[in-house]
Amino acid sequence: MCGIVGYVGKQDATEVLMNGLARLEYRGYDSAGIAVFENETIKVAKSKGRLADLAEKMKQEGKPSGHAGIGHTRWATHGEPSDVNSHPHGGGTVTIVHNGIIENYKVLKDFLIKKGRVFESETDTEVVAQLLDYYYVENHGNPVEAIVKTLKDLEGSYALGVIFADFPDRVFALRKESPLIVGIGEGENFIASDVTAILQYTKKYYLLEAGEIAVLSKQGAAVYDLHYQKVQKELKIADWDVSEAEKGGYAHYMLKEIHEQPESIRKTITPRIENGLPNLEECGITPEKLLTFRKIHVVACGTAMHAGMVGKYVIEKLAKVSVNVDIASEFRYREPLVGEGDLVIIISQSGETADSLEALRLSKKLGAKTLAIVNAKGSSIARETDMLIYTHAGPEIAVASTKAYMVQIAVMYLFAFELALAKGQIDETECRRLTSVLQETPEKIAEILANKEKAQMIASELITADSLLYIGRGLDYALSMEGSLKLKEISYIHSESYAAGELKHGTISLITENMPVIAVATQRNLFEKTISNIKEVKARGAKVILVSRADYQPEKDVADMQFILPDEEDLLMPMTAVVPLQLIAYYTAVLKGTDVDKPRNLAKSVTVE
Ligand code: M6R
Repeated sequence: MCGIVGYVGKQDATEVLMNGLARLEYRGYDSAGIAVFENETIKVAKSKGRLADLAEKMKQEGKPSGHAGIGHTRWATHGEPSDVNSHPHGGGTVTIVHNGIIENYKVLKDFLIKKGRVFESETDTEVVAQLLDYYYVENHGNPVEAIVKTLKDLEGSYALGVIFADFPDRVFALRKESPLIVGIGEGENFIASDVTAILQYTKKYYLLEAGEIAVLSKQGAAVYDLHYQKVQKELKIADWDVSEAEKGGYAHYMLKEIHEQPESIRKTITPRIENGLPNLEECGITPEKLLTFRKIHVVACGTAMHAGMVGKYVIEKLAKVSVNVDIASEFRYREPLVGEGDLVIIISQSGETADSLEALRLSKKLGAKTLAIVNAKGSSIARETDMLIYTHAGPEIAVASTKAYMVQIAVMYLFAFELALAKGQIDETECRRLTSVLQETPEKIAEILANKEKAQMIASELITADSLLYIGRGLDYALSMEGSLKLKEISYIHSESYAAGELKHGTISLITENMPVIAVATQRNLFEKTISNIKEVKARGAKVILVSRADYQPEKDVADMQFILPDEEDLLMPMTAVVPLQLIAYYTAVLKGTDVDKPRNLAKSVTVE
């Protein structure tokens, strides 16, 4: 949540910061702001609303011009979205941008008020700015000493970009919990919440650790520890390309990312298949190690948790190992029964989701082994896990996750195949066959994408609904959860997912002709059961949209509209069946005119609990 950037170099800082913020806007878009050194004076421009509002404001009122500065795009935590609560925030000679939450800000604020400090905003961030300035004055103008003292007082999470009025050619940065990288250019250097913000300028970067302080100038970026000792940092090279973080001719990032799914699957699974069999050794997973796990827990949030649901069905069916799926925010406060001999799988696109990260830490503390399935390279979850499988979806910019989910489930399949083989539940021939079916899914998805008009037609039937239901059984229920979240997240139409057999236990009373039902029926053994449930809602007036397979067709008039999927093995159906659900959500949102890529109240990376 919140994106921060910083720049010092030879270019127009305002332009570099605004470009960076445009890439980070998915992290929060309640307000935006920049602070730039203009002839040794800090000039601030900030505005409630989107980055475009800030750009407009600068057009009207003039934009700062200089070669060093910091910028911020906000997802509000303390204080409503407003001009005054927008970052950057100042205190005396210090100006800062902040991503995270300062938990003890009240105590610190009271302390500073007693010292005669006056506050303008309601934010926890302004408290940090004032505290920095307080120590700066106390330390006779030594910025690094002021930062070290401040950092020792702070509780909570933060990534901070800091400028001091007395140091117009420097940008300072520090972090704890919230992510921050230091970008290394030629005669210019950067800070950013993630690498997408700097890709157009450089691919070289350092990962800043908690307790490290970065000092950037045009000439270089030095990193110090809390004892003022220089830290030797490992230079990383981003393997994402700038074009991957652009719309590339698509109307929205979400549509582009839906279309990237076949390629994302190939990139993710191909390096993990050897002689037709899954091989996860490079991720720290061997058949011998797999045999040591009694029980598996999958812990994640939102869409990533739904990927875990698919994983549960597949692992239990193939490998006969019991799998619990948990929402990370529940898991971490529930005193979960997890310990030695258990494997906890954490799934996260960003690798920074606060609850998932804490669930990982708790699992390790309880003695379990952890495996993380993560998309963002070098993220906190990726760094702290015991075993790691990177998904190779490339940058996912749309808040609604699509290609990241796809590769998460692809990895769950590979993992399930390898586990089932290791446990002797399937033989090598079957494992090879399943792996090759998985390898064929990109073509099938491409086939669906070539016929997406049907999803558009279905969407046009949904836009007048106030509420709708997604139903399914087994793997189709797991899919319904994802379909429903996608739709409500971006179209703002209320929707729920239900196990089709559970409807009669209460929910069916909601059914009227104004509540469409999207039924997913891809599993042959459950097809007739789901059709019976469809008939029950149809008899009560619901309009039914059926997502099903070509070779299993219900009688005429059971469904009002149908999306027919290419033939596929039942177990692998989620890989293809999720695509029409993503497209239906996408087109419904487009037809409703919502902000598809940046739905209201949301942010892509949820780094607060
Ligand atoms: O970065 P993560 O995968 O940990 O994020 C988890 C959820 O916040 C995320 O999947 C969210 O539910 C998506 N916006 C759904 O489209």
